[in-house]
Amino acid sequence: MTTTFLAIGDVHGYWSSVRTAISQSEGVLGRLPDFVLQVGDAEAHRNEDDLAGCHTSEKHRKVGEFRYLRPGDISAPMYFIGGNHDPYVSLDQLSGPFPVPWGIDGLGVSYLGRSGATKIHDSVTVAWLSGIYSSGADPSARQKSVKARGYFSLAEVAHTISEASDLGKIDVLVTHNWPGGLHPSLGDQPIRDLVETIRPQLHLCGHGQDAFVGNIGITTVHALAVVPPASIWWNHERFGWWRLYEKTDSGVIRCIGVGE
Ligand SMILES: [Fe+2]
Repeated sequence: MTTTFLAIGDVHGYWSSVRTAISQSEGVLGRLPDFVLQVGDAEAHRNEDDLAGCHTSEKHRKVGEFRYLRPGDISAPMYFIGGNHDPYVSLDQLSGPFPVPWGIDGLGVSYLGRSGATKIHDSVTVAWLSGIYSSGADPSARQKSVKARGYFSLAEVAHTISEASDLGKIDVLVTHNWPGGLHPSLGDQPIRDLVETIRPQLHLCGHGQDAFVGNIGITTVHALAVVPPASIWWNHERFGWWRLYEKTDSGVIRCIGVGE
């Protein structure tokens, strides 16, 4: 049976945009998507304590809309990774097994964790890696620096590869930054290496604020744009802030809708 899923770009606390994206994709499908993936910087702060454990600039510092959500508001099961602006001090306290529910009981939003792979909705194999790359990053610095929490470790990359290989063929890889080599100033080489190693059908990423479509070998790369209204204050195009996909009976994933 065909499975449908929605991908959403950087949310940055504007969770009303998540509701809009789900509603617009429901308009395309005539039913809700089976699940939702989000590419990091969701800023799912439950309270001020979560915000205190998030690396962000003073200008953009806010608890945001996540705390106002109630059961039923996010009407399809949603899974998010961490970007470089997420409440890692709180997220890192979760011990798994991932994905782990996040927010109030019954909300239907789950954190995928730092790294890993699993099958979602019994049909789509998904691998993921939270954070961005920094060549000097040392995971032990995470205890002393909130900013350092936003960097992935090479051990986490290896963990994603290991779990992905246990699953076999990977349908979707979700990372925050782009893979290296597709943009002059964006992208992480370890993410490129990850794509070339596990060879997913589809690679979803964000972080760069603008939408992009490209290819690495057999993999289609879709970078999602930042959600409105964040696109307005960053003066970016909103085209491509969500994408809707179906995985057909033959196992092929295709994009059937784009947020404009
Ligand atoms: Fe980011």
